[in-house]
Amino acid sequence: MNTNTVLAALSLVAVTITMSFAGTEPRTGVQDSVHDMTKYGTLAGGDPEAQQERVCSYCHTPHHAIVDGSDYLPLWSHTLTKTTFTPYKSGTLDAKIDAASMMEGPSKLCMSCHDGTIAVDTHYSFTGTKMLNQDDSLFGTAGVGVNGGLNNDHPIGFVYDGTSNPNGIATGPAAGDPDVSAHIAGKDPYVRNGTATYIGTTLKIEDRLYLSATQGGKGIMTCSTCHDVHNKINQDESGATNYLLLASNKGSSLCLSCHIK
Ligand code: HEC
Ligand code: HEC
Ligand code: HEC
Ligand code: HEC
Repeated sequence: MNTNTVLAALSLVAVTITMSFAGTEPRTGVQDSVHDMTKYGTLAGGDPEAQQERVCSYCHTPHHAIVDGSDYLPLWSHTLTKTTFTPYKSGTLDAKIDAASMMEGPSKLCMSCHDGTIAVDTHYSFTGTKMLNQDDSLFGTAGVGVNGGLNNDHPIGFVYDGTSNPNGIATGPAAGDPDVSAHIAGKDPYVRNGTATYIGTTLKIEDRLYLSATQGGKGIMTCSTCHDVHNKINQDESGATNYLLLASNKGSSLCLSCHIK
């Protein structure tokens, strides 16, 4: 099977799944990015994907993918880690996070490498050896959610909705200042609603929410609401590390896309 056939198979999946990622900026590619696992693959062990530079295959496969009920597993080919992580907690948080559904959507896929328990070069039936947070000579990035704790990380897994859901947050305007007199307990007028765009782009926040089956089909915030996993060229000034973000880290544009501060 050639690369075009694989791409066609994968894009077919993209239109049939319940994601609302349609409005994303054209992706800048995985090859030679931090997510190009052929760089870390076990060449010495004869890993065929690394030898052929099949970048997609560390995360996806056109056949024999992992299947697990109604979970979002886009032709997933990478062993999954645990499913439950400790949520972020705070006295001022309006968002309701349920640990049982928090990892729905892309977030659990990220954790299948980033919590440092599954080797990044593991794929299909091949067991790799290079672990994030463990192999410091290879990786500079610290693990995220190591030992199951996402309690010191930006909250994810909650409904990003300011209009209909009683647990809704994000009632702020898409642009300009909020009408604070309209504050409703449990809703946050200082967070922009999903029609706002990431600063410096035409991409809407709502296009990077995952439509959660267990949360009434509403869009929840995930790792992919801030990051683009298929990204090589960041939104930042050229040459700067920008952590695959959907808006520039410069001037905290990413944060200010949502938070009216
Ligand atoms: C490091 C892991 C990783 C690699 C490598 C990777 N993907 Fe993905 N892919 C993901 C994750 C995670 C998602 C879930 C949606 C998201 O986070 O954007 C996804 C979703 C998708 C989707 C469905 C949703 C969408 O965004 O359209 C398609 C199609 C896709 N990937 C194609 C590819 C192709 C083609 C390649 C190789 C050029 C590739 N991916 C390489 C992790 C990866
Ligand atoms: C197949 C394993 C794998 C998966 C799945 C994966 N990553 Fe990564 N990610 C890596 C590796 C390896 C690096 C490079 C680490 C380093 O060099 O220190 C990395 C680096 C990153 C970085 C740092 C970029 C930089 O510029 O330093 C971010 C941000 C990131 N990943 C986010 C994500 C998100 C979000 C997801 C899910 C949507 C995800 N990753 C899924 C393996 C993975
Ligand atoms: C609210 C936005 C946001 C969300 C949600 C988010 N990140 Fe990040 N992430 C960032 C920013 C911004 C950085 C850049 C580092 C910095 O500015 O300190 C970053 C950095 C990273 C890095 C680079 C290494 C590090 O630890 O700093 C990794 C890996 C990463 N994120 C993975 C993830 C994963 C996995 C998830 C989901 C569990 C996630 N991120 C959710 C905004 C976010
Ligand atoms: C896609 C929109 C979005 C982005 C981007 C984003 N946030 Fe958030 N953030 C939220 C939402 C929504 C909440 C939950 C607000 C609530 O419940 O009141 C939140 C929660 C928080 C909280 C916890 C508030 C509390 O009461 O404990 C902090 C702090 C925070 N964000 C800071 C940041 C920073 C710093 C950045 C940039 C690195 C960032 N956020 C990027 C949407 C976003």
